[in-house]
Amino acid sequence: MEKIVILTGAGISAESGLGTFRDEGGLWAAHRIEDVATPEGFARDPKLVQNFYNMRRAQARKAEPNAAHYALAKLEQEFTGEVIIVTQNVDGLHERAGSQNVMHMHGFLEGALCAGCGHRWPAPLNMKITDRCPKCKEVATRPDIVWFGEMPYDMEDIWDHLRSCDYFVSVGTSGNVYPAAAFVQDAARHGAITIELNLEPSAVVSDFAESHCGKASDIVPEWVEKMLSVRK
Ligand code: NAD
Ligand code: APR
Repeated sequence: MEKIVILTGAGISAESGLGTFRDEGGLWAAHRIEDVATPEGFARDPKLVQNFYNMRRAQARKAEPNAAHYALAKLEQEFTGEVIIVTQNVDGLHERAGSQNVMHMHGFLEGALCAGCGHRWPAPLNMKITDRCPKCKEVATRPDIVWFGEMPYDMEDIWDHLRSCDYFVSVGTSGNVYPAAAFVQDAARHGAITIELNLEPSAVVSDFAESHCGKASDIVPEWVEKMLSVRK
């Protein structure tokens, strides 16, 4: 049975109104990474960081999946083989479009985590620094998001999928952050056909066998229809 692994980044959610990180006016233009996306920043000013993710959670809840998210959900439903989405996004739009096989390597805005005991629970819209962990009752809650300097989630399973997939497709990511930016090399080394679908060539486009430029809501549905026409 054929397997497709699809890596997605902020670009697939751009047309849903959620800012990317490094594009003009992106999140990192408005906020210093070291202040809102590192463990040190959280230790320095937990209220600032909680408010940053409360704002992103509210934005994500208001956003709607776009044609690219729906096309990937259709691929999972109609493709005869296995389709796995490995997303760097934390917005939950893949699931809201109907995708079920989604791995959140950078965590998920709808998740809360206890930095004390590791307990996880559904995050309220507005997390407060005085919130107590429902399990250990410690005041040690944080958004269940992977920050710079932390290890992304599920890496062993992700590497296994990369070494056994027939297609590796990257959508809407700039290829600036590791380990995600190196996934294409690992998939190609194990014989996968590698395809990049992005607004413009990413920093690692030369590692892909094929690349198409355009808006995700245009080029992802086109690619899915092509895949299903030959692999239904
Ligand atoms: P990183 O840049 O430190 O790199 C992670 C790993 O990749 C490290 O082991 C590093 O040694 C390796 N690496 C770094 N540059 C490399 C290169 N040029 N070639 C090969 N390997 C390289 O990762 P990070 O910036 O610390 O971020 C950790 C994770 O957290 C990343 O996946 C990042 O995307 C994620 N993150 C998420 C958010 C969010 O809001 N969701 C914000 C920031 C970071
Ligand atoms: N359609 C397709 N691609 C798009 C669109 C669009 N409508 N709009 C933007 N893009 C592309 C940009 O060209 C860019 O290459 O999406 C990419 C977004 O890149 P980044 O802003 O760097 O976001 P991403 O690659 O997801 O960042 C990776 O870094 O800061 C960390 O954890 C954070 O998950 C993030 C990771």
